[in-house]
Amino acid sequence: MRLILIGPPGAGKGVQANLLNKRFNIPHISTGDMLREEVKNKTELGKTAKEFMDRGELVPDDIIMMMIEKKLKEKDTKEGFILDGFPRTILQAEKLDWMLKNLTMMLDKVINLEVSKKTVIRRLSTRRVCKNCQSIYNIITMKPMKENICDKCSGILYQRDDDKEEVIKDRLEVYKKQTAPLIEYYKRKNLVSDVNANLEAEETFSEIIKLLE
Ligand code: AP5
Repeated sequence: MRLILIGPPGAGKGVQANLLNKRFNIPHISTGDMLREEVKNKTELGKTAKEFMDRGELVPDDIIMMMIEKKLKEKDTKEGFILDGFPRTILQAEKLDWMLKNLTMMLDKVINLEVSKKTVIRRLSTRRVCKNCQSIYNIITMKPMKENICDKCSGILYQRDDDKEEVIKDRLEVYKKQTAPLIEYYKRKNLVSDVNANLEAEETFSEIIKLLE
């Protein structure tokens, strides 16, 4: 199964990708997580990416394509993958098409997570992420068992720098201008299925499962 999860920041791409990964054991590829790992390790790539991420802007396409190309050539992605947060521009989508063609792979579905702006702002301003394993929590809807401690690895939970209200607004604008046009791009290829992402995570997941079955 080769899937793309598309949707605005806070639509629940990360949460749904984790649920899919658990159910089907398909690798979850999140460019956001990969970039945050580079930032945490203070690599040159991470230092460059951080400047864009903190402003809510997209990281340049060449950096992203380099990371993705490496990932898609790894053995465990041969049978399938879930792309979360990639592609995010038409150029990235075109390059992905070209890459998959060269690897004789095809996309199965693009799942479009539809969610209201109000929900997104509420979810992002209350999100917490594990510093160590990047697991996603929410202080209202998906609380950890112990306050500020990751259930899975006991790492410390933190609030992402780009989850401040002023940056959230910029990220939503960037989504509208640069990423939303991809829905039309994939509709032309007959790959898009819309899913209501305003629901509880498990309910949205059930909708996705119905589509995949
Ligand atoms: P990235 O990390 O990809 O962020 P994003 O796309 O903005 O999406 P988010 O991670 O904010 O949201 P999500 O949809 O995954 O929601 P989540 O499941 O966490 O990218 C960050 C930055 O990196 C970008 O701004 C850019 O700079 C750069 N970047 C990354 N990829 C790039 C690319 N391809 N090209 C260029 N630049 C790139 O859920 C959110 C919250 O809601 C959580 O607290 C969760 O617990 C809660 N929640 C989720 N679902 C539900 C539900 N159904 N009900 C209640 N609560 C829920």
